[in-house]
Amino acid sequence: MSKLAWWQRGVIYQVYPRSFQDKNGDGIGDLAGITARLEYLATLGVDAVWISPVYPSPMVDFGYDVADYCAIAPVFGTLGDFDRLVAHAHELGLKVLLDFVPNHSSDKHPWFTESRSSRDNAKRDWYLWRDPAPDGGPPNNWLSRMGGSAWEWDALTGQYYYHAFLREQPDLNWRNADVRKEMDDVLRFWLDRGVDGFRVDVLWLLIKDALFRDNPPNPEFKAGEPDHHRQLQTYTEDQPEVHDIVRSMRATLDEYGERVLVGEIYLPVPQLVSYYGPNGDGANMPFNFQLIGAPWNAAEIARIVSDYDHALPLHAWPNWVLGNHDNPRVATRIGARQARVAAMLLLTLRGTPTLYYGDEIGMTNGVIPPDRVQDPAELRQPGIGQGRDPERTPMQWDGSPKAGFSSGVPWLPVSGGDSVNVIDQDRATSSMLTFYKRLLALRRSEPALVEGAIERVMAGANVLTYERHVGSERLFVALNMAGTDASIEIPQGTVVLSAMEGHEGKQIAGTTLLLAGDEGVVIRVSPES
Ligand code: NOJ
Repeated sequence: MSKLAWWQRGVIYQVYPRSFQDKNGDGIGDLAGITARLEYLATLGVDAVWISPVYPSPMVDFGYDVADYCAIAPVFGTLGDFDRLVAHAHELGLKVLLDFVPNHSSDKHPWFTESRSSRDNAKRDWYLWRDPAPDGGPPNNWLSRMGGSAWEWDALTGQYYYHAFLREQPDLNWRNADVRKEMDDVLRFWLDRGVDGFRVDVLWLLIKDALFRDNPPNPEFKAGEPDHHRQLQTYTEDQPEVHDIVRSMRATLDEYGERVLVGEIYLPVPQLVSYYGPNGDGANMPFNFQLIGAPWNAAEIARIVSDYDHALPLHAWPNWVLGNHDNPRVATRIGARQARVAAMLLLTLRGTPTLYYGDEIGMTNGVIPPDRVQDPAELRQPGIGQGRDPERTPMQWDGSPKAGFSSGVPWLPVSGGDSVNVIDQDRATSSMLTFYKRLLALRRSEPALVEGAIERVMAGANVLTYERHVGSERLFVALNMAGTDASIEIPQGTVVLSAMEGHEGKQIAGTTLLLAGDEGVVIRVSPES
């Protein structure tokens, strides 16, 4: 196993810092809180923690609007707290990934304040400024991902600026060499402080069409979809020049040894895999979000798994994600019982898994009363289901009203749910948490699950099956993706893990197994089978 890098062997755990653990009682999670919970993460059995943005920010988009790339927001703590977090994580054998948000800054960032101050300011070209169209309107038809035009009029200098997201998040001009240099220094600032890698926000959006051409209409647009789906993003995403930037970020990380560059990229697989770079010199892992949007059935997942495996270039390392802070929780999407099957899938597929905080205890989407909505995506486009507060509710550490998250008033309401908390589940032998722990331990102890090939991916009725093997070690995985029993053909062997925990230790001598609804098994295949 030693030839693999730590991020290939390991499992990443995403922390949404506002919601993980509040230490100072202001109702908002903080760095000291994360540090206090690192032992929990080490015991859980993950290898790296990715922390969503903790930089100074007006928090209009909860930290994805950065006002200073080289500091810590007071609400989260100090640089000293950050250093303590990294040091303690490293003591425990955990890596730390930061969220790098290079596409846009906050409109309160001093760079933007300067840029908007006059047309001849030295930083004018750091952002995307354009003259109005002849009728005085926006320069072209580009739409914001948070609704409405992506162009904001600035009366002081008589030009518009571009923002792919909120108007408070102006896009930086990545064609400008000074911007690139400055951002490279930002990476180095954190690498010098010991971070082990970055998740890069909206990596595929960094470069826009040099000619600012209008995006064509999307013939498949359906009513109720977000506004920007009215258009194909032909000129606003996935531009060829972006790969140069990815390569240079990667080169910087490589100077620091074994670091990891993970890219947030929502693109179809053929385009997605180009972000590995032609020679493996791009992102180490362009996030693979296919399991988030997939229809949950065996045939569809089998197709996704096989197609992805075939599409990967030889040098590319796969990865899988079930949830994050921008998407409904997996246990809400597919139900509590299937969430166990999903966990088994995530942790037995080939490639690095990323877990979202709380999924290991089966947290579901929270219910947010209208007067407590926080997410700008919901506030600015109400009613179309884009709100992300439900998947950002506080981590449930215990069964008390504030779930052990905070002594103050939590910034989002705490969700309920019998026993959906760490303390209760730690005591129960068949809880989601103990199941996750056993899955993570199995993954660590079985080279086939980490470095093995994936083969024979098949869907029979509702059951997805595949094999992982390395050398003579073979593991067979069968996942019943429906609630009804199914009889399946299996190789001879011993069940090493079972989602419902009814089968473990069972020797399978015959060639068929009755797999209960929502059941999943990992079978160690006997050598003679
Ligand atoms: C992607 C982030 O994951 C999301 O939370 C954010 O709103 C946008 N990028 C803008 O930064």
